[in-house]
Amino acid sequence: MVFPTETVYGLGADAFDAEAVQGIFAAKERPADNPLIVHVAAPEHIEGVARSVPPAAQRLVEYFFPGPLTLVLPRRAALPSIVTAELDTVGVRMPRMPLARQFLAACRTPVAAPSANRSGRPSPTTWEAAHEDLDGRVEAILQGPPAEAGLESTVVDCTRDEALHILRAGATTLEALRTALPDTRIVPPDPTSTEGSVRSPGTRHRHYAPAARVVMVDGPAEAATTGRAPRAYLGLQGPAHPEAFLLIRVCPDLEAYGRALFAFFREADAAGCHTICAQRVDDAGLGRALMDRLRRASESTAPSLDAPS
Ligand code: TXA
Ligand code: MG
Repeated sequence: MVFPTETVYGLGADAFDAEAVQGIFAAKERPADNPLIVHVAAPEHIEGVARSVPPAAQRLVEYFFPGPLTLVLPRRAALPSIVTAELDTVGVRMPRMPLARQFLAACRTPVAAPSANRSGRPSPTTWEAAHEDLDGRVEAILQGPPAEAGLESTVVDCTRDEALHILRAGATTLEALRTALPDTRIVPPDPTSTEGSVRSPGTRHRHYAPAARVVMVDGPAEAATTGRAPRAYLGLQGPAHPEAFLLIRVCPDLEAYGRALFAFFREADAAGCHTICAQRVDDAGLGRALMDRLRRASESTAPSLDAPS
């Protein structure tokens, strides 16, 4: 069933019920090689799915659980292999949102859950977005408030000895992780490298894409002449030529930008926009996650939409 978290809505099933987990892959049309995150109600449940918690990971649990952080740990053999796409590791996260925690506590079992969107689509930050993608394919939707962060959890690989590797930038910043672990080497994802996609299969697939073409723009002036109308604009500063846009959303800060991103993609699609101009931000703090999502959304735009019609 669909449930809210502070990052995005998830589509959950009992992590120890392989058939129910298979239902998640079917409902989302998710490739079988993309592992699911296992959600727990309390830190003491981590060891139910993970064989061990290395010291650095233990410290991250103390600092950031509950919160928007997923730790990749050695997997317990008892966990059905479909959950982790046959990997010998498992991603574990404890959400912070009270309603999510109540839901997980009531489940009395770890819950395997990807984001509650159809595969390739923008993650759902509202129950309505999950409903749009999954109505008729899921048993129930827990109707909570819009997601507080709007960007998914940061995924950190804790299974390599030499350093922690960030597999997916997310709502917990690299800077925050480094503050918690000043003596540990933490390797950020390299947007130009393909190595991350080998370690984190999910980052290999088409992602976060609305039907409209997403174009990253540097400044408010550039946007008006980018792509075909009707256009939508999203950024930290207003566009220089507002008349060129059907939809405009100006966010006061990075947090608001992150919260708005996926919902705005869906809004622009609903309004029939052809181009979404999204303003680039600095690759620092929450900006890393934002830029990662923008890059993937713009790269994965279907080429056919570019063709003049
Ligand atoms: O904020 C979130 O993380 C949301 C909420 C619902 O918790 N969930 C989410 O799940 O974004 P999903 O399935 O959309 O993305 C999970 C990411 C994928 O990139 C996947 O490849 C990676 O985490 N992942 C999961 N388990 C992994 C593992 N054992 N090793 C490497 N990467 C893993
Ligand atoms: Mg997802």
